[in-house]
Amino acid sequence: MNDNFLIKDINLAQKGEQLIDWVANKMPVLIGLTNKYEKEGVFKGKKVALCIHLEAKTAFLALALKRLGAEVWITSSNPLSTKDEVAAALAKQGVHVYAKHAASKEEYHSYLHSILKNRMHVTVDDGGDICEYLHQFKEYGENIRGICEETTTGVNRLKALSAEGKLLYPAIAVNDAKSKHLFDNRYGTGQSTWTAITQLTNMNVAGKTVVVIGYGWVGRGVAVRAQGLGAEVIVTEIDPWKALEARMDGYKVMPIVEASPLGDFFVTATGESNVIRMEHINKMHNGVFLSNAGHFDYEIDIPRLKKDAEGYKIVRSEVEEYTLNNGNIIYILARGGIINIAGGLGHPVDIMDMSFSVQLACLHYFLVNNAEKKLYKVPAEIDKIVVEEKLKAEGIEIDEEII
Ligand code: NAI
Repeated sequence: MNDNFLIKDINLAQKGEQLIDWVANKMPVLIGLTNKYEKEGVFKGKKVALCIHLEAKTAFLALALKRLGAEVWITSSNPLSTKDEVAAALAKQGVHVYAKHAASKEEYHSYLHSILKNRMHVTVDDGGDICEYLHQFKEYGENIRGICEETTTGVNRLKALSAEGKLLYPAIAVNDAKSKHLFDNRYGTGQSTWTAITQLTNMNVAGKTVVVIGYGWVGRGVAVRAQGLGAEVIVTEIDPWKALEARMDGYKVMPIVEASPLGDFFVTATGESNVIRMEHINKMHNGVFLSNAGHFDYEIDIPRLKKDAEGYKIVRSEVEEYTLNNGNIIYILARGGIINIAGGLGHPVDIMDMSFSVQLACLHYFLVNNAEKKLYKVPAEIDKIVVEEKLKAEGIEIDEEII
């Protein structure tokens, strides 16, 4: 144990250990990769920071890095997703944890400072906050060999920096690896979003109308799993190809203003702000459920809803009830934060096995290569190893191309 941590309560560690134990033998690809790297010793003495949802699967990645000899710091990219028990278990095992569930924005920023002042070699970001800090406080970045970015929103931030010629460090768009977004963004979010919504509301989805806003990787997964549960699905989009794809996939497609009076459940999946606004909310019927699967909690205009609503109360854990001045009730799930993580268990373990294997391999890539200050794609050989190992773990064989 170290005393270089800031968590809610170290006495929660035993429960956290149980949660980590559950995932520990369900990530065979990550375990295989860790075993392989252990022989090389590349991570020994290296400083690694992770700013990513802090729960059992992430903890397992942090412990894998520790096993490889790295010194590991961690905070959560979204304080609502922090599991205090897991934070305690990690602190007990010598990881420098700075995270508390529902920490304020100020606390979260102080955590980032406490971590980054230790001058990391490589980092894992989920949404781009470490990257932003390394650009704002350049002294923190003096040892940086590379930044690995987990999600679409963070990759979009990196692409913007790179296009402006302002990217100061090597970075990899982990999200864009096929082994990541095809499975994690789509099927991982698809399943875990509906697990969270049904758990929080205790409502039946079959026969209901689900409106999915945004038909990217996340939206596709949320839509297909809603359909699987028996819902009628409406998709809203701004991209004509995605809109047509949704139509060909069998969903109704229309503008959000037309979908607003029809939906029972609404799920945003765009990565953009204020895609559900009061002009839409005022058209919704009584008792609808609004949630967000995008990275940030700004896809639903909750600040405006708070202002305009005549009544407000918390009715269940992570379910807030707003009464509009037309008398209708609107439920907001998980405070408009990332629903599957802030309101549920996050992605399935065996999906995160792939995402975190790509992460580990990209961290390794930065430590063994002298990368340039630019945005890299995940090397094709890393993507291929991860998918092949995953197929092996699933016991699936495939044919070879005939030349
Ligand atoms: P993507 O770029 O593949 O898809 C976003 C889609 O939203 C695009 O098709 C775009 O045209 C559409 N869109 C943008 N503005 C819109 C609007 N006003 N109305 C309707 N559609 C609109 O991105 P991806 O990978 O699907 O990610 C979406 C968000 O989810 C990002 O914030 C990402 O970081 C996050 N994410 C969340 C996960 C989770 O566990 N909940 C997992 C992976 C990503």
